[in-house]
Amino acid sequence: MSFGATTLTEQDMSRLAPIEQELAKAFAAELGKPSPAARPKIPEDACIGIDLGVSDPGGTIRLDLEKLLDGRLLVQGTSGAGKSWTLRRLLEQTHGLVQQIVIDPEGEFVSLARHFDYPVVDGSRLDTAALATAASRAREHRLSVLLDLSQIDREAQMQGVTAFIGALIAAPREHWHPALIAIDEAHIFAPFGGAGLAATSVRQAATHALTDLMSRGRKRGLAGVLATQRIARLAKSVSSEALNFLIGLNTLDIDIRRAAETIGWDASKAFDRLPILQPGDFVASGPAFSLAPATLRVGPVETRHIGARPEMIAPTAISAADAASLLDLDELQTASQADEEVRSEQSLPVGMRAVRAFIREPAFADAGRILEVLTPLSPQGAAVSDLADYLSIDGSRVAAALALLDTYGAVDIDDVGEGRAVRLAKGLTL
Ligand SMILES: Nc1ncnc2c1ncn2[C@@H]1O[C@H](COP(=O)(O)OP(=O)(O)OP(=O)(O)O)[C@@H](O)[C@H]1O
Ligand SMILES: [Mg+2]
Repeated sequence: MSFGATTLTEQDMSRLAPIEQELAKAFAAELGKPSPAARPKIPEDACIGIDLGVSDPGGTIRLDLEKLLDGRLLVQGTSGAGKSWTLRRLLEQTHGLVQQIVIDPEGEFVSLARHFDYPVVDGSRLDTAALATAASRAREHRLSVLLDLSQIDREAQMQGVTAFIGALIAAPREHWHPALIAIDEAHIFAPFGGAGLAATSVRQAATHALTDLMSRGRKRGLAGVLATQRIARLAKSVSSEALNFLIGLNTLDIDIRRAAETIGWDASKAFDRLPILQPGDFVASGPAFSLAPATLRVGPVETRHIGARPEMIAPTAISAADAASLLDLDELQTASQADEEVRSEQSLPVGMRAVRAFIREPAFADAGRILEVLTPLSPQGAAVSDLADYLSIDGSRVAAALALLDTYGAVDIDDVGEGRAVRLAKGLTL
């Protein structure tokens, strides 16, 4: 079956859910008619809007998927406001209508993936190159997938997201289908300013990937749906691209003010209303909602929501000695001593540790190419702006690679505005 330049074989079709097969057929028939579009089209069934919940005065509030694609969505509220629930509701309601890619830092949505029978890409078992390939394949075959990042540390989560989203965006034009990219706790991947423990270059690359998703993603059919506890914790370059908002319970003054600006309320109204919202209550604002601004109660979910805090339960009544034997502390201590040599990264020689850290950096490949260019130009060096043109990569990648080289003292950068120059650091020979 042909979709413009893309062809799905019988085998490809057999991998799709029945409803997706129906849609694929309808979509292929639709594509038979000439319909020039600024960005990929969503199937017509989806354009009536999906049922998000009930508005304050009563009546369903619908979310128009076409407009969601144009304006993306940011869901904000304090912990427990109902953001993850809302993402789940949105994913359940759009299942079968549009490809879904869920980026899940807490493993909260695995139950949803299991329910709808789409694959879970385990971030702890694939390296960044493999994650990028998985993302390209998901794009090529229009497959809904969940990227579970719950088993890896922050820095690895950022690197995984950079590779995965980068590949979604880099997909060739014939694979530009509409897709929802739901990212829970988005501030983890694109923290505002220098927040977080990850290395600067890792953070910059992840922020850049999310910014790209929210800006260049539109024409590629990618609709970013991001949830975050505080808009102030999310990089401005990411939050400023959203036109649709769901603002939930907020209790901090600074968040209430920021939320009020976002939905165009005056501060006093926001201070009256936002702190008393219940979990699941949100103020909808933006062109994708059938009624906006309006307060709504997000509807129920059919898959198991696991974001609730565990029930209160008394600790086990037990003596210290019995508890220590349950924990088997003696055995753990012996094992720790025996493994120390093997496990400790610190036991590596210092030079090897540095090399290892360097080659793990996402900007490593670009940094290598920059060193190659600068070596014959030493000691004069080159203008930073020329490097991007010469290497045919964009300025932010050059900046990330230079930041990395700078961290290792490999380059000297003249910090004088537009015509900044960079050269190999004095005394460095390659
Ligand atoms: N629309 C809703 N209807 C009924 N209950 C809800 C709704 N939304 C949230 N809740 C309740 O609130 C709890 C917390 O919701 P949720 O896990 O989505 O919060 P969150 O904003 O994602 O919090 P965190 O930032 O800590 O992840 C849920 O377990 C559920 O009990
Ligand atoms: Mg949550």
